[in-house]
Amino acid sequence: MEAIKRKSLFIAFEGIDGSGKSTQLRRLTEFLQRKGYKVHTTAEPTTRPIGRMIRDIFNHRMVADNRTIAGLFVADRLDHILNKDDGMLRLLDEGYIVITDRYYMSSYAYQGAHVPLEWVIGANSLASELLRPDITIFIDMPVGKALDRVRKGRNTLELFESEDNIRQVTAMYEKVIKMIGSDENIVRINGDRSEDEVADEIETLVVAFLHDSLNS
Ligand code: TMP
Repeated sequence: MEAIKRKSLFIAFEGIDGSGKSTQLRRLTEFLQRKGYKVHTTAEPTTRPIGRMIRDIFNHRMVADNRTIAGLFVADRLDHILNKDDGMLRLLDEGYIVITDRYYMSSYAYQGAHVPLEWVIGANSLASELLRPDITIFIDMPVGKALDRVRKGRNTLELFESEDNIRQVTAMYEKVIKMIGSDENIVRINGDRSEDEVADEIETLVVAFLHDSLNS
């Protein structure tokens, strides 16, 4: 299947829980908006019906098998790409820079820790063929520090937030980056620095990309 041609830029943020990616996503959005770009920020799981079902499972309001969860993420992702209201393909076509907090690499790392990775990659192939990130920003953070951040200010942990699981997911991210790194533009950013330092590096990276790809 041929990827749909686009005139804008699609960025995915990845990293373990507590890596600081949501803060960095917000900072990049504000930076690009100040520069005059139209930016749409979004996240997975989405706030649409399938995403809400996933959040219910994560918040222990509903129980589901890991294989079912993996399937729900595939469905939520396709809806995120294709829905006619605020689907990412539509917004990219309208000239927005779209920045998502998590995309299919999250499924590879999180669901790949519980169901066979080949299955997860195969099940996500429609999504990866329809819409591949121009840049995946992977925020690298030591597990201990990430967990401290997750625990701060929170009484209960979500389904995948145990220390064991986060260690497993970290190992899966490393495996996945090795596996798909040559097909994808994955940039590893050291998140174990001040917020400003991390933001500066991401801004420089994205500005260079915009300069090379959109304005050439
Ligand atoms: P968040 O904390 O970044 O909002 O993400 C919610 C949780 O969803 C997080 O623990 C990671 C998990 N997740 C998956 O397990 N698979 C996926 O494909 C995505 C997008 C998120």
